[in-house]
Order: sequence, then C-alpha cells, then structure tokens
Amino acid sequence: MRLDKYLSNAGEGSRKDVKSIMKKGRVTVGQKVIKDPKFEVDGSEEIRLDDKKVVLENGIYIMLNKPKGVISSTEEGPTRTVIDLIDHPQSKDLFPVGRLDKDTTGLLFITDDGKLAHELLSPRNRIDKTYIADLKDDVSESDISMLEQGIPLKDFTTASAVAVKISSRKVKLTITEGKFHQVKRMFQYLGNEVVDLERIEFASLGLDDGLRRGEYRRLTESEIDILKK
Ligand code: URA
Repeated sequence: MRLDKYLSNAGEGSRKDVKSIMKKGRVTVGQKVIKDPKFEVDGSEEIRLDDKKVVLENGIYIMLNKPKGVISSTEEGPTRTVIDLIDHPQSKDLFPVGRLDKDTTGLLFITDDGKLAHELLSPRNRIDKTYIADLKDDVSESDISMLEQGIPLKDFTTASAVAVKISSRKVKLTITEGKFHQVKRMFQYLGNEVVDLERIEFASLGLDDGLRRGEYRRLTESEIDILKK
C-alpha cells in the first residue's frame, strides 16, 4: 500500500493532509525519513509520524442497526451504502456480513474479517437469523406449520425453521439459510406479503435495543468470541 494511503487509512488526515505532513519530513519508515507519498509499505515496517507509531487497526467488528434506504454493498454509487454510515478511517476495508434488502432494517454486522464473515455465511454452518415480519394479511396456523416444515421455493426448499405468531399479522421467523429475498419469498408462497422486515438476531446475538436505526457500536470481546464459536 502507498504510504500516504496507509497514513490516511490510519486516521492521520486526508491524502492531501498526509502528503503535506510527509513533505515536512515528519514521517519515518524504519529510521528513514520518507517524503515520497508513493513509497510502498506492507504494514510490517515501523512507521512513525513525529514520534508516534502509526498502526492500522486489524479486526474491526461492528453491530449496525440498519435503516431503510441504504444498500448492503461496498460499492460507491448513487445509493448510500451501509459502509457510508460507518465513520472509521479504515472504512474502505469494511464490508457487511451478508445482505439485507434496501427496505429491511435491523441487525447487520460490519467487519474487516473475511474469514469470520465466510464462516457466518457458509450454508454448511446453518447459522440462525431471526426476523420479525409484518404481513399484509392474517397468518394462519397452517402457514406457521408450513414455514416450520419447509417452503418449496423456485430454487430450493427451505430448511426447517422456527415460526412464532406474535399477532395476526406479525411473525417471528428463524431461518438458517440466507438466500436472496428468502423471507419475503417464503411468505409470498403462502399468498401473503411482507410489508416490513427487521432482523433482530444473528448467530445468537441480538440487536442492541439501545441502537436506533442508523446507529452502530463495536462488538465486545465476548460478543466477538460468540461469533467466532
Ligand atoms: N429475507 C428477505 O426477504 N430480505 C432480507 O433482507 C433478509 C431476509
């Protein structure tokens, strides 16, 4: 990585700020003053700004309460992404663990840990995801048992799930897969329509009810341990 990018990612200012800091001879790699912003580093060097060692953070784990209207993507474009909500100098290294639809709200993990994300999303690990679905029409007891037994969708039949009717048009549904529009498609098969969808749990961690939509916090060490297990 270029040294100016490294310093900027570590929170030492914009690329422009960092270039001017470097010009003043304030940055060293090893014992050498480096003024060339294009100088390549791999992070194993001792990089200092004045006397302060500059290190990039590794292992960033965030719980976001996703609001409506943002997409679960890392690509910059006309639509705001979940990463745009995160104020972190290394936000370019971050990505969401899986996807929630643009109009779905609730628990989304954001991390720089590709290995953990892969494990959490791997179908083989059958990680529980729990949603609260608000429906257009009433839900019957037979709907509940079909949701639990498995719904034959076009591309696959859903694995057994846990469905709890909270009220006539509200269901708490725990599924282990994470296919495209899965919850919406499951209710669509039953002739119903999801009008509001919120994820409240993922991998036995619940959405922190202190987080309002669009707010986020770091996961604690013990929460990270739960995810890694
Ligand atoms: N199922 C859906 O239909 N949408 C989501 O965002 C998540 C699960």
